Amino acid sequence: MTFRILCVAGARPNFMKIAPLLRAFDAHPAFEAKLVHTGQHYDDNLSKVFFDELRIPRPDRELEVGSGSHAKQTAEVMQRFEPVLAEEQPHGVLVVGDVNSTIACALVVAKFFRDEPFDTIFGSRKRPLMIHVEAGLRSGDWDMPEEINRILTDSISDLLYVSDPAGMENLRKEGVAAQRMEFVGNVMIDTLLAAKEKAMASSVLEDMGLEQGRFGLVTLHRPSNVDDPAMLRHILGTLDEIAKDFPLVFPVHPRTRARLADAGVELDPGRWIVAKPIGYLDFMKLTATAKVVLTDSGGIQEETTVLGVPCITIRENTERPVTMVEGTNFLAGTSREKILQGYARVVSGEAAGRVPQFWDGKSATRIVAHMAKVLRADG
Ligand code: UD1
Repeated sequence: MTFRILCVAGARPNFMKIAPLLRAFDAHPAFEAKLVHTGQHYDDNLSKVFFDELRIPRPDRELEVGSGSHAKQTAEVMQRFEPVLAEEQPHGVLVVGDVNSTIACALVVAKFFRDEPFDTIFGSRKRPLMIHVEAGLRSGDWDMPEEINRILTDSISDLLYVSDPAGMENLRKEGVAAQRMEFVGNVMIDTLLAAKEKAMASSVLEDMGLEQGRFGLVTLHRPSNVDDPAMLRHILGTLDEIAKDFPLVFPVHPRTRARLADAGVELDPGRWIVAKPIGYLDFMKLTATAKVVLTDSGGIQEETTVLGVPCITIRENTERPVTMVEGTNFLAGTSREKILQGYARVVSGEAAGRVPQFWDGKSATRIVAHMAKVLRADG
């Protein structure tokens, strides 16, 4: 029997997580996977470039939801995803990460019944299996939209695949049954390891006039950091002190670009290289060769850990504690003192780390093998 799985991706950080999963399904005889792109991100440099560079097949379904308030965007994904489920009648729906598309699709699946029942190790069922990859992460910060998305998605998913050991503990504390969760490692790192050689061949350093180890890389897009003009000015003012030592490369997310203009921030072109969002391969080359990465992203905390590059996280909390405990991540918050203290650690060479367990390039294969067992498709 062939099991049909719908994989959902919607926003930039989803694409590098879905790519290895699609390949792993393709390599397994029991599965037929299709890709749904919700269209939460639609700009070429937030979406198409990742499909091209990571050789992700064209989506089978495009929902084209676009931007909007949280309620509007989430509702739009739900309305457009429900008829796709009815037509495709999948045995499982797999969502990744914590963006609005993740919770929107999970919520539709949780209340959807297929025409025909099918068997799993959990018994016969009519609802498609709801699968969440990168489950269990918790920042403890309920003001963060992604935290709501994570908690709700986990609570209505059947299978929870976990990347950070703390994620297993979080789920246990929330009373999740052991058979619903599996520690598999990090699919985003599958993509990084598969693309590393190609990324290192990128000419981005020459193109930007940079020298390996003699620049910093900055990303900022969290609403809590960029939506308040005073906070945005404060963070960039602090980073500007670091920019006196070496240039800071700042690929600006569209949300941040709008806020920079509103806040009247002007960054000195002698110290800053302000760029549009950068494709995956060039960005990985920049990350791997930077002296330090300063960010409020989640995924970049993980990528720097694997690349052994110091990361200063400009947030008060992280849902990815293994990057601090084992990796190269320093959680600075937003205070000037803590950010500069993190930077001083980097300069003194203190930020060493190791690669966490199972962040080895094989996480997607583990997930698909486990799903085959659940669906009794492993021979
Ligand atoms: C979303 C995710 C966030 C993720 C980030 C990565 C949620 C709640 N947030 O945040 O977890 O880290 O993506 O980038 O799902 N825009 C464009 N072009 C696009 C998409 C958006 O210009 O292709 C602009 C629009 O003005 C939009 C704004 O960016 O209003 C924000 O986009 P949105 O998808 O709402 O949230 P992100 O901040 O990107």
